[in-house]
Amino acid sequence: MSDKKVIVVIGATGAQGGGLVRAILNDKNGDFSVRAVTRNVNSDKAKHLADLGAEVVAADVDDLESIKRAFAGAYGAYCVTFFWEHFSPQKEQDNVKHMAEAAKTAGLKHVIWSTLEDTRNWIPLSDNRMPTLMEKYKVPHFDAKGESNTFFDEAGIPTTFLLTSFYWENFIYFGMGPKKGPDGKLAISLPMGEKKLPGIATEDIGKCAFAIFQNGNDFIGKTVGISGEHLTGQQMADSFSKAFAEDIAYNALPHDVYRGFDFPGAEDLGNMFQFKHDFENYFCGARDLDFSKSLNPSMQSFDEWLSHNKNSIPLD
Ligand SMILES: NC(=O)c1ccc[n+]([C@@H]2O[C@H](COP(=O)([O-])OP(=O)(O)OC[C@H]3O[C@@H](n4cnc5c(N)ncnc54)[C@H](OP(=O)(O)O)[C@@H]3O)[C@@H](O)[C@H]2O)c1
Repeated sequence: MSDKKVIVVIGATGAQGGGLVRAILNDKNGDFSVRAVTRNVNSDKAKHLADLGAEVVAADVDDLESIKRAFAGAYGAYCVTFFWEHFSPQKEQDNVKHMAEAAKTAGLKHVIWSTLEDTRNWIPLSDNRMPTLMEKYKVPHFDAKGESNTFFDEAGIPTTFLLTSFYWENFIYFGMGPKKGPDGKLAISLPMGEKKLPGIATEDIGKCAFAIFQNGNDFIGKTVGISGEHLTGQQMADSFSKAFAEDIAYNALPHDVYRGFDFPGAEDLGNMFQFKHDFENYFCGARDLDFSKSLNPSMQSFDEWLSHNKNSIPLD
């Protein structure tokens, strides 16, 4: 039996977790092995992780006993929740409670919890610059995560609180890529004015997380923010124009216009962008670029990410 320390990865077939699984497996002679959690061990993605050498187990964050089984005997766990699958902050919190309880039962030595800010610490519900959503949140998918930090603290789990950044993959999968306006010209539309948006390639989140596990003593009990670059909408549009060799403009939408879009979660995202816009100094400062690079020296810039991914970005 291997004497490697097992890291359980929740969301292993997805963006954040997938990057971490690959980072651990790439370090063949290192101290860690990976146990990848999926709800369906027979999916193509799960089988692919098994082929790469991961131990693949079935568990669901809705099912406490299954998470306890997945965490048993492990050294650590990467914990993430899935807001965009259900749009329920309450469910996110229930899922975090399950992971914290399972971590305690298993006696894990190090958990990384992929959290985000509770924006109400900056914008109380009484602040009318943005609407209150679901009666008690400003940015539900941020606030519920930030509020959940306490579940790990209360359970006495040695935890690193990881603040991630806007995935550049949102330009591929989240419908945020360049689109043709009424004038027929391509533009990216973000409600960020002239402010900088910290972004990152999802693969790099996993590499940073692995470095945090490898240097656990430095990071347990700490909040750690990561980003590949802090870029304005105009800077990203310039990079798009260069990568596609055609003019792609930046359309700085008003926050209210963004909130009024009719896709699910538009208000939540409109408030999120306004938070990042209004608190640019804090938000970028919490995701220091030099620090991020010290965790992951191969961190991609936006231009590098675009050069690898431009063929996957729909231009419509
Ligand atoms: N988009 C962004 O820019 C951004 C930035 C920062 C943070 N986030 C946050 O990232 C979180 C999502 O992480 P991600 O993007 O890495 O996820 P993802 O790529 O959407 O999916 C991760 C995987 O999780 C698994 N999963 C879903 N529901 C599950 C459940 N009930 N129990 C166990 N596994 C489940 C699914 O795998 P199986 O089907 O194999 O079970 C899925 O492949 C969200 O909460 C979001 O707020 C997003």
